[in-house]
Amino acid sequence: MSIKRDISNKKNSLYNEIKRHYDNSESGHDWSHTLRVLNNAMEIAKDEAVDLKVIELGALLHDIADSKFHDGDESIGSVKGREIMVALEIDEMIIEHVVNIINHISFKNSFEEQCWSSLELEILQDADRLDAIGAIGVARAFSYGGFKGRSFYDPKIPPSTNLTKETYKKSTAPTINHFYEKLLLLKDKMNTKRGRELAEQRHQFMLVYLNQFYQEIGGPLAWLKTEQII
Ligand code: ADP
Ligand code: NI
Repeated sequence: MSIKRDISNKKNSLYNEIKRHYDNSESGHDWSHTLRVLNNAMEIAKDEAVDLKVIELGALLHDIADSKFHDGDESIGSVKGREIMVALEIDEMIIEHVVNIINHISFKNSFEEQCWSSLELEILQDADRLDAIGAIGVARAFSYGGFKGRSFYDPKIPPSTNLTKETYKKSTAPTINHFYEKLLLLKDKMNTKRGRELAEQRHQFMLVYLNQFYQEIGGPLAWLKTEQII
């Protein structure tokens, strides 16, 4: 077998092995999300000196088991990720790095000081955050809201301005509030220059979307401040 074919077969079996773990996941955190995150990450990593194997495995495994779908267990993702990588005979140094990425990538951790970082983590964090904004971000937010049985909006429930990690995790607010509690904040939290550039365009789209949303429901929600309306 040629070396090229051998590498390509190994890659196919790696992808298929990881893909099956996403079979029953909610549509916002499924296999297609991981592939979009991988694409975003490769675009950002293009001109950076990084370990592309870590980027690849980090993207494919970062949502392998999200704590919010496992009774809040924040260690389950890295335990499962490690198990999969050990079974795939991945080098231990790479496993360690990817496990750290799985443990630190989540937005909820940004409410607290980060105790670990790497350029690969910064790139993957940007790649994951890009998939939370723009058109796909709108789709994911309402899909997640539907999955949780949330209302679209409520003029009586304003977004929270001083969330902590714990209150963010417990929030049951209407989906539109999530734009003000997370999605519109992401462009200023990007780690990389390329990530910031890509986020800006998606951010502008969300503003246009929200403007149209308010037009269609008969005007902005009572709690919206003037500077939040374009
Ligand atoms: P991370 O994946 O960085 O941990 P989250 O799990 O908070 O971030 O969010 C992942 C995606 O799930 C968000 O981009 C959003 O689409 C959706 N999501 C999370 N919380 C909410 C919410 N309260 N309302 C609507 N969508 C949400
Ligand atoms: Ni993700």
